[in-house]
Amino acid sequence: MDNFDIRPPGPVLVLAPNGRDAAVVGQVLERADIPSIICADLSALVDSLSTVDAGAALIAQEALLGDTASLQDWIAAQPPWSDFPIVLLTFRNAVGPTDLPTIRLASTLGNVTVLERPLHPVSLVSALDAALRARRRQRETEALLIERERHAAALRASEARFRAIVDGMPQPIWSSGADGRPDFFNARWQEVTGLAPPVRDERTGMAPGEFDWTRLIHPDDLDRARSDWLAAVRSGAPFRSEFRICTRDGTWHWFTGRALPVHDDISGEIVRWFGSCTDIDASVQAREALARSTEELERLVSERTASLQREMLEREKAEAALAQSQKMEAVGQLTGGVAHDFNNLLTAVLGSLQMIGKRTEDPQVRRFAENARRAAERGARLTQQLLAFSRRQRLAPEPVDLQTLLSGISDLLTRAVGATVSLRTRFAEDLPPAFVDPTQLELALLNLAINARDAMPDGGTLTLDGSALQSVPPDLAEDLAPGSYIAIAVTDTGLGMTPDVRERAFEPFFTTKEQGKGTGLGLSQAYGFVRQSGGTVKLRSAPGEGTTVTIYLPRSETMPAAEAPVPTEPAQSVRHARILVVDDDEDVRDLVVAMLEELGYRVRAAENGYAALDLLLADDEFDLLLADVAMPGLSGADVVRAAREAGRAPRVLYATGYADLETYRSGLEGEDMIRKPYRMADLAGRVERALRTPPSPAARGSREGDLTRPKMQTSIQPKVVLGGYND
Ligand SMILES: Nc1ncnc2c1ncn2[C@@H]1O[C@H](COP(=O)(O)OP(=O)(O)OP(=O)(O)O)[C@@H](O)[C@H]1O
Ligand SMILES: [Mg+2]
Repeated sequence: MDNFDIRPPGPVLVLAPNGRDAAVVGQVLERADIPSIICADLSALVDSLSTVDAGAALIAQEALLGDTASLQDWIAAQPPWSDFPIVLLTFRNAVGPTDLPTIRLASTLGNVTVLERPLHPVSLVSALDAALRARRRQRETEALLIERERHAAALRASEARFRAIVDGMPQPIWSSGADGRPDFFNARWQEVTGLAPPVRDERTGMAPGEFDWTRLIHPDDLDRARSDWLAAVRSGAPFRSEFRICTRDGTWHWFTGRALPVHDDISGEIVRWFGSCTDIDASVQAREALARSTEELERLVSERTASLQREMLEREKAEAALAQSQKMEAVGQLTGGVAHDFNNLLTAVLGSLQMIGKRTEDPQVRRFAENARRAAERGARLTQQLLAFSRRQRLAPEPVDLQTLLSGISDLLTRAVGATVSLRTRFAEDLPPAFVDPTQLELALLNLAINARDAMPDGGTLTLDGSALQSVPPDLAEDLAPGSYIAIAVTDTGLGMTPDVRERAFEPFFTTKEQGKGTGLGLSQAYGFVRQSGGTVKLRSAPGEGTTVTIYLPRSETMPAAEAPVPTEPAQSVRHARILVVDDDEDVRDLVVAMLEELGYRVRAAENGYAALDLLLADDEFDLLLADVAMPGLSGADVVRAAREAGRAPRVLYATGYADLETYRSGLEGEDMIRKPYRMADLAGRVERALRTPPSPAARGSREGDLTRPKMQTSIQPKVVLGGYND
């Protein structure tokens, strides 16, 4: 009780109005060290009770004979802890069963001790001591009550402060028992979740005590939150977890949940948890947005990088293509120039060799001259191919139906590729005609087929696809003028080419074939011819993946002239026609004579222009003159002119080499010509066609006649086709 502020009991109020009673009592009390105040009457006593903190009162019975209401009021108005002690002095012998008024009075005054007079001082002092002790006890109780009240007030104030702070927090705050069952939520909790603890909640159907917070958490985050919680409970460490909570408007928000455990001082066990949830939705959104934008950025960067790489690759490709075409152009020009000069030289060499052969009787010299002539002719054939590559050969383009052309050479192709390679053609039904020199195209296709055969030593498939292009594909824009084209793709399932070979395949004399097997002119010839025809050639090939060579040719605007099926023998009407062949080259002459005779014609041969003119003038029965253009002495054209001047008007078919065209161009305008080298089939067709033409002095317009085109003679081998006869 030392802590309490206990007031010591004050003086004893003495009310004894008769005689010297009060003075005597005062002396007794003074001797017993009990302070006292003598009151004159009841109202003075009641006054003192209100003003002096009295410890007890000693009242004589006679003082209460009047109105005691004021005293009774004071007694009744005491605080709960107070029961003011009064010692009542009765009259002598007044306390008995009959003295009811005194008894009644005593009961109305509460804590009353009755002493009967005459009074012994010891009894008086002891009674007052007891009264004062009781009063001290009451004071102690008062102090306790006051203390308790102060505590309660302090607690209330503290709680109010706590509430104010907790409710003012922006986060939902909660506390729970050791088991995690919440028993407190702040106001923010309800604002965020829309739940109203401690009222029974509509959504969870629970009061706060049985409230299951996990049911507010997003199902996807629940496992993590739960395991974080269990880990915290097990270790006693603070709880921390991130999860989504369903907010009052039904949307999910990210929160960080945190809780601190309160441990029991003695056992160390967790007794409570205090927790909070912090809305981190904005920062999570920002984090995710950042991640997304980083991802997006990375995607954009990689896309851009890829497109740059693509662009670079395309540019490299375009540059390589440009370099390739420039190279081809340069090689072509060089080759063309050289070949042209060579052709002229060889013409002179061949002419001289012939002269030597004719002028000497020495068989040895003749043999040498013959050998030299053969070699020079091989050279001339090569020159011819080079001229084709350099796009300087004379072409006779016409509308060509590719189906027809192919069926014409299909036997030859089949034979050329051999039995182990199967040949397929896939041509669009209504494929428009191409505008091209058919002979050269046949040659080119044959070359491609032979290349394919060589690339398929163990057999395979050779496919020819024909298709029409309405416009120039972008990757060919460099090579082709705007317009419509026909594409012929020749695909094999062979070994394919390495990039090095692919790069050089079109170069003249580039070959991977062993010595003597390939000249390396097949592709270059095809390339030159197609380029000269206004088209282009593309190569697609990779080792082990076969090769596709695609020829693009300009589409013809007019249809090919209708062709009658070509008989292997001349038609009856022309079968026995008489033909005069004039060629100063004995080999060629003999060969041509043999060919024509095989076809059933009656043939005469002349070894030069003079001999031919003589025969023509002597004999009017020739149906056709097959004249070599370039001959020493009288040229073919000279013979014809002279014959016509003499009134002879034979049909004429000129045989020309490249060099002839350069020299005799003006004299041959509009004449019917067959170009050397020619095939037997060509020869057959041309001769027959010429024979169907009515003879005319100008010998023009033969093309308008009953045109026929020969079927390829399958007995003629490719090398013969490739070979030529030069002047
Ligand atoms: N279909 C193909 N498959 C694989 N390689 C090919 C094919 N066509 C051509 N080549 C390669 O290209 C090279 C050149 O071909 P090209 O036709 O110009 O000459 P060649 O066939 O070697 O000789 P030539 O045709 O004069 O007899 C060939 O040697 C070969 O290496
Ligand atoms: Mg070849």
